[in-house]
Amino acid sequence: MLKIGIDKIGFYAPHLYVDMNKLAVARNVEPEKFTIGIGQEKMAVPPITQDAVTLAANAALEIIDEDDKEKIDFVIFGTESGIDHSKSSAVYVHQLLGLKPNARAVEVKQACYGATAGLQMAKGHIALNPDSKVLVLGADIARYGLNTSGEATQGAGAVAMVISADPKIMALEENNVYYTNDIMDFWRPIYSDQAFVDGKFSNEQYIAFFNKVWGQYKEMTGHALEDFEAICYHLPYTKMGLKALRTVLEEAPENVQDRLKENYQISTMYNRNVGNIYTGSLYLSLLSLLERKEDLASGSRIGMFSYGSGAVGEFFTGVLQPNYREHLHLASHESLFASRKEVSVEEYEEIFENTLPKDGANIELDIEQDPAPICLAGVNDHMRQYVNKNN
Ligand code: HMG
Repeated sequence: MLKIGIDKIGFYAPHLYVDMNKLAVARNVEPEKFTIGIGQEKMAVPPITQDAVTLAANAALEIIDEDDKEKIDFVIFGTESGIDHSKSSAVYVHQLLGLKPNARAVEVKQACYGATAGLQMAKGHIALNPDSKVLVLGADIARYGLNTSGEATQGAGAVAMVISADPKIMALEENNVYYTNDIMDFWRPIYSDQAFVDGKFSNEQYIAFFNKVWGQYKEMTGHALEDFEAICYHLPYTKMGLKALRTVLEEAPENVQDRLKENYQISTMYNRNVGNIYTGSLYLSLLSLLERKEDLASGSRIGMFSYGSGAVGEFFTGVLQPNYREHLHLASHESLFASRKEVSVEEYEEIFENTLPKDGANIELDIEQDPAPICLAGVNDHMRQYVNKNN
């Protein structure tokens, strides 16, 4: 049977971050609430020159080569911080990357689940067109507002994946279980640039959806926790996946529990330092596991739990391919993290409030302050102006 899955995976986060200990002090809460209770160390802060399009394009830039440019005939962009009600963010990224014109380009929306929907659509597309490749993007800016209870769970960033036949990193297996139920745990009305959330309810529903799809998956496949080297979760904050994992851990013998707990911690390392990137969060967790667990063997089965408020959940699995480590971009991600710059809480608040004009006025932005290759340079006649500094 044709193997289909993740051939390449790239990542980008803005170059600025705020320290969660300092944010806690500024908000009059104990730092341990944010670093242990929520499980976040640093939160990415997007400058005005980054939006969902630029974040995604920057993530894709590091993985796309000439062969990909020839073969990618479908760009699927999962996001809930899109920049236009009509035109898809995928069309902008298609242009910024110089992909071939004979391609489809669409945006997919269902909260944090969008990139998973994209990944599964890509799998179907490759099954029908085994010689082509699909670019799947998940990029978002998570905004709840200053001084809100969701503030500590903000973030910004993007993951880009090339999906192909005979993938070099991870082959997706069959037996996906998905589940939809209309609930109001988190949403963002069209008139608001900040999310509305029922925090406690969203936590409960996340866990309930996980239990539902995991239960059905076990029934359908006869698999158990023992069959997994690790389970990666959508991570709105790193404590969230742990809460879900804990509800099932006792199903496994102690050595398996220890393995899953240890690998869970490794799978949260990048997210802990970036925050919630919504659609990309599950895939950032996968990337963290792959890049940070040096002895993770080829052939390992990885479980993946995707959750998008509103809500859709899915459990699916993949198997790591021979020599997958050779196809990761570890050095580039190490340098991305090492070269980030800390901003004070006051600076973060200023950046947060410095948004694009809402009345349609033109604006020119200073892209020299932003080291990213692809930036938003301004808005002219209601059109966002993107620049690829490499061109
Ligand atoms: P909160 O009410 O401020 O926090 O909001 P809390 O009082 O629940 O405390 C959080 C944890 O810190 C608790 O641990 C405390 O005990 C602990 P828990 O009981 O939960 O294990 N704590 C401490 N620990 C150590 N030392 C201390 C200390 N003090 C307290 N001194 C909440 C937290 C997550 C609700 C809020 O930030 C929020 O609303 N965030 C946004 C919503 C969210 O992330 N929901 C997650 C599930 S929904 C989802 O994942 C989808 C999403 O990504 C959106 C999408 O799909 O697009 C959000």
